Amino acid sequence: VREKILDLLKRKTDYISGDLLASRLGISRQGLWKHIQELKELGYDIVAVPHLGYRLQAAPDKLLAYEISHCLNTRFLGRKIYYFDGLPSTMDTAMGLGIKGSAEGTVVIAESQTRGRGRLGRNWFSPKYKGIYFSVILRPELLPSNVSILTLLAAVSVSEAIKKVTRVDIQIKWPNDILFKDKKLGGILTELNAEMDKVNFVVIGIGLNVNNEKKSLISGATSLRERLGQNTNRVELLQEILRRIEANYSLLQHKGPKTIAEKWRELATTLHKRVKVYSQNEHVEGEAVDIDSDGALLVRNDSGLTQRITAGDVMHCR
Ligand code: BTN
Repeated sequence: VREKILDLLKRKTDYISGDLLASRLGISRQGLWKHIQELKELGYDIVAVPHLGYRLQAAPDKLLAYEISHCLNTRFLGRKIYYFDGLPSTMDTAMGLGIKGSAEGTVVIAESQTRGRGRLGRNWFSPKYKGIYFSVILRPELLPSNVSILTLLAAVSVSEAIKKVTRVDIQIKWPNDILFKDKKLGGILTELNAEMDKVNFVVIGIGLNVNNEKKSLISGATSLRERLGQNTNRVELLQEILRRIEANYSLLQHKGPKTIAEKWRELATTLHKRVKVYSQNEHVEGEAVDIDSDGALLVRNDSGLTQRITAGDVMHCR
């Protein structure tokens, strides 16, 4: 009902009478009033004027499911959204939902995380209402060894969405860092639930620093606000990221990983640079020559030998 109320209020810039609202929704005036109070508690600025009715003045600066679903127009991505004010990590919640059989495209959003995590056991600092922190459940027809293309797909989607909404060009550092002028703007974490040769589901977690001021950023990090000098509408940005993930996922399904790898190459700062890659127990140094269609990084060392790297931490050498 609340979603319908918002939908009706959003369609009108003027007042809409309580009687009309109640009859459209098939509820009593008293029932309507209760829902309006609940919406106000969520932060919706709704004014009520006797004889005129209700008017929505402003929506809260929150990533509420109603806000994200409104005019999202995706086929499956974000059709089911779980929203939390705070969570330990959206990854754990999404993993739990995946195990229970939640549909492909389910999204888990949190306004803050107490145990937000990044790759290689790092923390992801998630201050409340500043950034975008969410996880998506996908059920791709991929072998476990080919799943890393999804990290690149997510990075490309985030980049396209940032460009569309803010006009800012960002760069991607292999495999998952979203950078702006060498500072970290966001990151992507891909976790999977799989058997030896079958992926049950994948959870892609995305963290982005959006409206963080300097004091709510860790060192080496940046935010869109720092770069633009103004806040970005997080709802609009998250909606666009979801649309892009859906579009790129459909490209992957219909045209294969090559198309995603091509888009990634255009945005990557890692390619053609001298890099040091630290993976579990070795480090490889050389020139990052390319990525293959599974998203692995190809590094040519000084003796001309090319190594294929599927996981690790990349340092760009100067
Ligand atoms: C990285 O840079 O290493 C990846 C960071 C991923 C952070 C996001 S925030 C939403 C989701 N929940 C988490 O706990 N982590 C990911």
